[in-house]
Amino acid sequence: MNNVAVIGAQWGDEGKGKIVDLLTESADVIVRFQGGNNAGHTLVVNNEKFIFHLIPSGMLHKDKICLIGPGVVIDPKVLLEEIDNLAKHGYFVEKNLKISGTAHVIMPYHREIDILLEQKRGAKKIGTTGRGIGPAYEYKVGRRGIRVWDLIYPGQFKQKLNDVLDDVNDYVKAVFGHRGFDANRIYSEYSVYADKIRKFVLEGPLYLNGEISKKKKILFEGAQGTMLDVDHGTYPFVTSSNTTAGGVCTGSGVSPTKITEIIGVSKAYTTRVGEGPFPTELFGEMGDRIRSMGAEYGATTGRPRRCGWLDLVALKYSAMVNGLTGIAITKADVLNGVSRLKLATSYTVEDEKIDYVPSNIAEFERCKPVYEEMEGWDTLDPATGPGSLSPAVKSYIGFIESYTGVKVYILSVGAERDKTIVFKDPFKA
Ligand code: IMP
Ligand code: MG
Repeated sequence: MNNVAVIGAQWGDEGKGKIVDLLTESADVIVRFQGGNNAGHTLVVNNEKFIFHLIPSGMLHKDKICLIGPGVVIDPKVLLEEIDNLAKHGYFVEKNLKISGTAHVIMPYHREIDILLEQKRGAKKIGTTGRGIGPAYEYKVGRRGIRVWDLIYPGQFKQKLNDVLDDVNDYVKAVFGHRGFDANRIYSEYSVYADKIRKFVLEGPLYLNGEISKKKKILFEGAQGTMLDVDHGTYPFVTSSNTTAGGVCTGSGVSPTKITEIIGVSKAYTTRVGEGPFPTELFGEMGDRIRSMGAEYGATTGRPRRCGWLDLVALKYSAMVNGLTGIAITKADVLNGVSRLKLATSYTVEDEKIDYVPSNIAEFERCKPVYEEMEGWDTLDPATGPGSLSPAVKSYIGFIESYTGVKVYILSVGAERDKTIVFKDPFKA
């Protein structure tokens, strides 16, 4: 048995796409288990850039199965656009895509409510991606959601849509003075999507567990990151799903006993998009330098990302809540030429020093980072392998390992596949 989960260890955008792409070589099935098209995984292959929002990036490999699991919320319009774009570039293999019938569908009213709620919050906005993710999960948990199974059977869809729209329209009219949504219009639009999607739909957990019993290797592709987890992140400045290791199981229908390795992906520094606390955020020249060197602009929304030093307190927290067995450090090359590097190893809140992430957001907002400084490096040359790493890089990695108690498995030093040093391959562990 060899099933690996790749989890964002920070606030998302850690470069999971690249790590997943790398590990996909050894996997048979790649699974998305949470989130939706709020995610944006950027991949550079043969000088072509691809941004994946919904379909697992494993689709770039012609012989891998890609499954969109039960925990995902699917905007069918976006899914179909993504399929078209992949097909146009010769990368879409129809039989390789599978969609769990129990995944929920993002509806037009989810997108609109997402935006209306953000406007209503004003200065207290969350900074969502505006893709309807939060409302789609609200409807799911509120047992008013429409699942892919409902969507693909016309009679079932019509019934569900009429029932829920009754409710939705009462709400949007009363709260936002909105004119309401027309059932027939949504029905016609979504029926077209349903016809195109039907062939991909199956019993997700049954399929996956069947593959596992056939000794197939599964790779679980996380979206967003630990600090954006709805339970364990900086609530309410979070996304609406469980981005942490527990979400792998609930979002796929695969037991925790079947997961053999959990890899947390972290940049060599930290970024965050959207609002919410971020103790190591840099506002001056250094922040700008990281943003421009690292091209730190959102893959989904294009927003400039907030940039800062590596926060080891948060990374250790991530190691704890996910039970990380390994870490992948990405974008180390972005720090090339920075002579002194800082890593947060504790916080101060008023006069007290703490070395954990407080779950009371008001307290976390008051946390100021306490840094250790380390010597930087000039260049990173992956071609010559681990042995050639400079002492400064080795110390940086060693420091991360000793602080978090987790081994660094992978070091990524550029966007391309060959700009990677693998110390340990989780599929060969
Ligand atoms: P939502 O997921 O669109 O509801 O947005 C909630 C919060 O999560 C906002 O701060 C977003 O910027 C953030 N977020 C959502 N998806 C991603 C992602 O893939 N990368 C980084 N941040 C994300
Ligand atoms: Mg991203």
